[in-house]
Order: sequence, then C-alpha cells, then structure tokens
Amino acid sequence: MLLKTHRDDVEAILAKYPARRSAVMPLLHLAQKVYGHCTDEVTREIAQIVELDPTEVRSVVGFYTLFYDHATGKHVIQICDDLPCALRGADEFVDHVCQRLKLDPDKVRHGGQTTEDGQFTVETVMCLAACDRAPMTQIDLSYFENLTQEQFELLLRRFSG
Ligand code: FES
Repeated sequence: MLLKTHRDDVEAILAKYPARRSAVMPLLHLAQKVYGHCTDEVTREIAQIVELDPTEVRSVVGFYTLFYDHATGKHVIQICDDLPCALRGADEFVDHVCQRLKLDPDKVRHGGQTTEDGQFTVETVMCLAACDRAPMTQIDLSYFENLTQEQFELLLRRFSG
C-alpha cells in the first residue's frame, strides 16, 4: 500500500495542492513509479486519499496514455496511427514493428501487446503532435520521427538490454 511504504512522498505531494483531488495525477505517477503500473488496489487507495470515487480515478488512468492499468514491458513503444500519420505510412510502420517483434497487429492496435521477453510493449495511440513527421514513435518519453525501418532497427538496439 502506498501510504504504508511511501507516506512521506504522499504527504509531500498532498502539501503542494490546496484541494486533495488536485493531487490525483502526481499520486498516480508515484504509484506507477513504485508498482510499474496503476494497480486496481492502488487506484482505490488513491481514490480514498483524494476523496474521489474510484471510478473517477480509474477514468484518469484510462484517459492519459502514459498511465497504465496493466503491466507493461521494460520499454513502451507508442506509435501514432491517427489519420495524418496514417497518410504518411504509419499503418505500414506498425505492421513492420509487429512483424519485427513477433507481435499480433490486432492486439497492438487494440490495447497493446508485450514481447515474450518482456522488453517492449507496443501500442498504437492517438495524435502525439508530430503529425507531419510520421512515421513516429514515442519510446518511454522520447520522440523519434520520420522513421525508416533501418532507423527503427537502431532504436531497438539502443533500447535493448
Ligand atoms: Fe499522428 Fe498527430 S496524427 S502525431
């Protein structure tokens, strides 16, 4: 439980905000850092701390693409396949990434999938504000744009291990 193991961190976050509910995102960020994702248990705990309904906290997790309610691989590869990116080859790029990492394109396009070795989770996402530089990906928090298959190969090497 977050309050048991990280009480000081929780209290430091709460102290920054005049209303407890305003601390929901920093607390979710802390939870994800500690547990790897926002587990159902910690989501309910945070709801209690900030005095919100657990459904409201779960909706925050669901809305933001950098919060996860399930375990992910060591690195998360997000690929935008929204229309402007699709017009610049995003769909073909997703298919290539799936083939390269032995993933199911349907799963990647509907919630994401993790490689067998747990190294990468790949998922498609909506606009990441690099619409004229597709194919593009966000790996963890870094952007890579105008990607070719060769450049993606170099990224895999860089993030492997
Ligand atoms: Fe892909 Fe905007 S539509 S980054």
